[in-house]
Amino acid sequence: MTGPRRGAAPGVRLRDVTLDDADLLDAWNADPSASGAFNDFGGSAKLIDREALMRGPLRNERNGQLIVERVADGKPIGTVSWHAVGYGPNAESTAWNVGIALLPEARGHGHGTDAQALLAAYLFETTDGNRIEAQTDVDNIAEQRSLEKAGFVREGTARGAQFRAGAYHDLVTYSILRGET
Ligand SMILES: CC(C)(COP(=O)(O)OP(=O)(O)OC[C@H]1O[C@@H](n2cnc3c(N)ncnc32)[C@H](O)[C@@H]1OP(=O)(O)O)[C@@H](O)C(=O)NCCC(=O)NCCS
Repeated sequence: MTGPRRGAAPGVRLRDVTLDDADLLDAWNADPSASGAFNDFGGSAKLIDREALMRGPLRNERNGQLIVERVADGKPIGTVSWHAVGYGPNAESTAWNVGIALLPEARGHGHGTDAQALLAAYLFETTDGNRIEAQTDVDNIAEQRSLEKAGFVREGTARGAQFRAGAYHDLVTYSILRGET
């Protein structure tokens, strides 16, 4: 679905979610270790909308999700997702806010870097968006490094922005602009 980024061939590819993935995604969503501590907001996970999946992939003009698949063995190892964020009343001021979760055993091999670089390329190719942003906890060093290696630029800190694990947390904001990939 997405082409290779500059440099080494990526170790992962991105593909649409299909109905065959529904059970797997439900299992991941029900397992806090699969999404990682920084994505654990408590509560029970919503089941995947199988009727929506029967109609087509999980993406529309406002948000979407893709499976991250390891090239070496074709195994699904996580997901990337995005949603629209408005910075003005006009369509041109819509940015994409992206997120990622890899299975614990797939972390630390550069796959998060590749997946986020591929997602940025995919969104620039398939939409008119000028800005792709990501926010992560100030303590999530792996995600910060991974974003930086994927070409995102650190912009600053959004103080007390996220309520998780019983407290408000500061988030670091990153972005990549069209033409910077
Ligand atoms: C965050 C995540 C996507 C990163 O992907 P990844 O494949 O594990 O990361 P990469 O291998 O591409 O790069 C990780 C980098 O961070 C570094 N790193 C990892 N853990 C670290 C830590 N605890 N302290 C310092 N550096 C760390 C690695 O050394 C590597 O940098 P390097 O190549 O310069 O050595 C992945 O770990 C994940 O899915 N985590 C759980 C979910 C999550 O936190 N998602 C983001 C929420 S906003």
